Amino acid sequence: MATYIPPTRVENPYLPFGDQRSSPFYGRDIISVKQFSRNDLEYIFGVAHEMREMVQRVGTFDLLKGKILANLFYEPSTRTSSSFTSAMERLGGSVIPINEVRHPEVGASALAARYARKPIINAGDGVGEHPTQALLDLFTIVEELGEVDGLVVTMLGDLKYGRTVHSLARLLSLYNIRLNYVSPDVLRMPAEIIAELNENGISQTESAGLDGMLPESDVLYVTRVQKERFGDQAEYESVKGAYVIMPDTLRRAKEQMIVMHPLPRVGEISMEVDEDPRAAYFRQMEYGLYVRMALLAMVLGKA
Ligand code: NCD
Repeated sequence: MATYIPPTRVENPYLPFGDQRSSPFYGRDIISVKQFSRNDLEYIFGVAHEMREMVQRVGTFDLLKGKILANLFYEPSTRTSSSFTSAMERLGGSVIPINEVRHPEVGASALAARYARKPIINAGDGVGEHPTQALLDLFTIVEELGEVDGLVVTMLGDLKYGRTVHSLARLLSLYNIRLNYVSPDVLRMPAEIIAELNENGISQTESAGLDGMLPESDVLYVTRVQKERFGDQAEYESVKGAYVIMPDTLRRAKEQMIVMHPLPRVGEISMEVDEDPRAAYFRQMEYGLYVRMALLAMVLGKA
């Protein structure tokens, strides 16, 4: 008869409770959405949900006491950098802010990760990726709508230079969804992303107008035209006001649809829309805090 021998786990007596390095993300870099599986996402969202409950219950707690986050932002990014700062501070850690150095290169964080001994989290690299924003975008959809499979997501605005839509489209392709892209011709979703998603069997439709797409949408994801990425300012002027969401626009949308925006907005959603319960963009920013808390706790082995 075989005797069952339980697996042994060597626990470090010098580490405080909960710090047993069991997180699958312990010590890892967060560089690209391409590194995540659906299981990973479920794990992250589970931790983020717990963070949400903890913040609502106690506000701040000492999970990362003694840990230091170096917040390196090479381009202006008020929301993302303050979201990381508050995430670290709510977990009891501290932050060294380093700003004002221009460095908008795609791939910069992957390069840093190759040489750094500490985990690197990509908070947006030029027009490349913005994985923490995509995670918080998807977490918003999960918390607000309950399910991702079966949804129709319509992305609107600057789909060429908007890095958030690039990362989000890739993450969504892990699910059974349909994507609509609405943009001026010069700001269409890059062909390589469309091709990549095609290979995953995702149905994608491009259009210059929102009208036909809106009634079937469960999520309307609006982006600003990324002025700073244009070489030709006349081209920016010609497309900057291409779409404006007004209360009237939403009359043709589903009751349960959510309107998202990574912020800042510069006129693509009228302020009158803020009163509509479907306007999820301020709640979306709050979900970002919980996702970043989850990521920080996970890479430091505390979740
Ligand atoms: C976005 C970004 O930085 O790419 N903002 C954000 O993540 N809060 C979108 C934008 O700047 O328009």
